[in-house]
Amino acid sequence: MEKKQIGFELSIFHSLDEMSMEDITLVNEAEKARQSSHSPYSKFSVGAALLLENGKIVLGSNQENASFPAGICAEGVAVSSAGTNYPNVVIKAIAITAASQSHQLTSPAAPCGICRQTIVEYEKKQGSPISIIMKGQAGPIYKCGSISDLLPLGFDDSFL
Ligand code: THU
Repeated sequence: MEKKQIGFELSIFHSLDEMSMEDITLVNEAEKARQSSHSPYSKFSVGAALLLENGKIVLGSNQENASFPAGICAEGVAVSSAGTNYPNVVIKAIAITAASQSHQLTSPAAPCGICRQTIVEYEKKQGSPISIIMKGQAGPIYKCGSISDLLPLGFDDSFL
């Protein structure tokens, strides 16, 4: 028997000023996207901005439904939109911002399990890593170099 540690590198920025212009722009676009959130039930708004290799930015925000499971996460909206409108363009990075109406988010909200699985699909499809940037309403901003960092031992088409 052997034991193996699985870890990843998380960059923690104490303010936007510490980030590259490209990352700052993406976070600002995610914030813009968040304004279009339809989240009357959770009162938790999420915005996602996805940077493509051709320089285009694709936005998404969470869209809830009175039938709760029918709601879609911000990341899912953005990634599906990119998959539809730019099917063969590499996704370089995704910025995700979140805000709650009931309390101040002082740490970033990481993507939910379904979103991790959704994004991994595109990372595998394109064969190159998608960086993930996460920001709450205050506090640090996190960045990791690949969605697979957030979904170790994930399921993908290699098992099928
Ligand atoms: N949500 C997202 O948009 N992305 C995530 O990764 C986590 C959760 C949304 C879903 C729902 O509209 C609200 O946040 C509360 O769960």
